[in-house]
Amino acid sequence: MKRLTIAIDGPAGAGKSTVARRLASLLGYAYIDTGAMYRAVAWKAIQQGIPLEDAEGLTRLAQTIRIAFAPGENGEQQVLVDGENVTQAIRTPEVSALSSPVSAISGVRRALVAQQRAMGDGGGVVMEGRDIGTVVLPNADIKIFLTASEQERARRRWLELTQKGQTISLEEVLRQIQERDARDSTRADSPLAQAQDSIFLDSDGVPVEGMSPVEGVVNRILAICRERGERSLCG
Ligand code: DC
Repeated sequence: MKRLTIAIDGPAGAGKSTVARRLASLLGYAYIDTGAMYRAVAWKAIQQGIPLEDAEGLTRLAQTIRIAFAPGENGEQQVLVDGENVTQAIRTPEVSALSSPVSAISGVRRALVAQQRAMGDGGGVVMEGRDIGTVVLPNADIKIFLTASEQERARRRWLELTQKGQTISLEEVLRQIQERDARDSTRADSPLAQAQDSIFLDSDGVPVEGMSPVEGVVNRILAICRERGERSLCG
């Protein structure tokens, strides 16, 4: 019986964060949001005025930035960059838009992937992103590729943004998601792709009676964890 390493990949708005957070909490595992790390680099680049064209400067930034995850008062995970709480600041449309091209820079990826591998060492971790099952943790015990229809993903992101008080149309969110997916899936270095040995789940279509799609997905993954011998589920 063991503590597993769980990799969850998929496009923007598929519900990865909600699923990964819930799973980590149920299993008592660490939750690592690797997208937040690319966002942190994009945020700091804006603060320091490093332009997107300066790949060397951005790589140096990714090598020296100190990104930490800490539990917040409300149970939500907080993201700290060089000691500063940036949990909200990294979720703005400006940072979302910049994080995608920043994440396409190989030097930035090398620096962050090294940190992510160190965090995944030893198991007991749920890590989500775009290249976790393919590049970061190719030996993960469980690999999930989670997606949902473009319309549904846009609707969820739009709800999230408008609930936070941002004014944006559903059409604009859909356009931004399409643009980001296209870039994340076609970049040369570690594009979003489904690992061959991953399990494909669609959060639009996991119909389990009386459950929300996210709960349905979490339940499916918990069943897989049990099959693979996770100690808190066997006994
Ligand atoms: O998951 P997210 O939307 O917070 O990710 C922000 C950006 O970072 C996204 O455009 C893709 C990129 N990303 C990546 O390239 N590799 C990862 N493992 C995670 C995110």
